[in-house]
Amino acid sequence: MRILVIGGSVFLGQAFAQEAIGRGHTLTVFNRGKSGPDIQGAENLRGDRENSADLEVLAAAGPWDAVIDTSGFHPRTVGQSARALSGHAETYLFVSSFHAYSDWPGGPVSEDSARHACPPDAAVDEVPGNALKAGCERAVEKYFEGDVLILNPGLIVGPRETPGRLLWWLERMARGGEVLAPGAAGQKIQLIDARDIAAFALDLLEEGSAGHYLVTGPKDTTTLGELLELCARVTGAGAQPVWIDEEFLGEHEVGAWTELPFWATEQPAMAGAWAASPDRAVAAGLRCRPLSETVTDTWAWLRERGPSDTPYRQGDIPLGIDPEKERGVLRAWQAKAGTR
Ligand SMILES: NC(=O)c1ccc[n+]([C@@H]2O[C@H](COP(=O)([O-])OP(=O)(O)OC[C@H]3O[C@@H](n4cnc5c(N)ncnc54)[C@H](OP(=O)(O)O)[C@@H]3O)[C@@H](O)[C@H]2O)c1
Repeated sequence: MRILVIGGSVFLGQAFAQEAIGRGHTLTVFNRGKSGPDIQGAENLRGDRENSADLEVLAAAGPWDAVIDTSGFHPRTVGQSARALSGHAETYLFVSSFHAYSDWPGGPVSEDSARHACPPDAAVDEVPGNALKAGCERAVEKYFEGDVLILNPGLIVGPRETPGRLLWWLERMARGGEVLAPGAAGQKIQLIDARDIAAFALDLLEEGSAGHYLVTGPKDTTTLGELLELCARVTGAGAQPVWIDEEFLGEHEVGAWTELPFWATEQPAMAGAWAASPDRAVAAGLRCRPLSETVTDTWAWLRERGPSDTPYRQGDIPLGIDPEKERGVLRAWQAKAGTR
């Protein structure tokens, strides 16, 4: 197949690119050349997806059997590329997210869950940020003349991860000592390796499938405790998670989700964070590797990459608790429990 990835140089896009090349497809990647390396074995085209002249040049470099759009966040921008590539590609695969579902993270979601009411031509400042992916999905459906495939991933991990949730935990465990572990070890989590999304997506494209698929790891099989134990084991620094209940963490103003990544509190607003059903995707062939393989490979990649000067961030919010604050909360917890 001839495949175009709009983006392709950072994390999920690069996983798609590697998977496509590994399967012997002919690959073009299109980006500005700012965020990541050229992809070896691909045609690397430079351009800005927000610039219509660049999109015209891109379209003239086709045709493709499939476009994979991993870098779309704004409905108007996505609509522009869907229009520009109509007639130049058979299928448009758009990578959306759980944020498109209006019930997430407050309630369980599946492929059939309602989307936010974001129009396909919405400007960025017209709707709340969380709703924009729903508008992007509608923009592809409205403007692309061909088959449309929409993937809604949950939290994605693996080598080269952005924004760096698993990377932060691995680096924290590698520092060793007692580690603040939030809530209960048995709380369920649902993660998916970027490489498993890429393999599933390429299978769908090769089969000529279209439609919507929610892609995440299986429900109710993995816990935060298992993840942190795996991180402690692979990093080998003898780190010891100290589980602290969430009421105590709330009293000490420790924030869920970002300050301690993957921690979704028991508050109703987060009740569905880890309750998504990837049933349709599993029936269509989605297979997830064991979490231990993801953690091991990500640690190997992190060691090869070495320390980064760029702090991990989710949007404007830094990821990971400040080490001094962590020590203070651990001391207070142990004083309360009478263990120090
Ligand atoms: N991480 C998660 O847990 C998670 C969960 C659910 C969904 N998702 C979705 O998964 C996707 C992940 O993306 P990724 O960063 O891994 O993808 P990626 O394709 O590896 O990286 C983003 C690419 O977009 C390019 N880009 C950015 N602005 C551009 C522009 N104006 N014109 C052309 N290219 C541009 C960047 O290159 P240049 O900057 O060099 O142009 C880069 O190649 C996103 O759509 C995200 O919403 C992520």
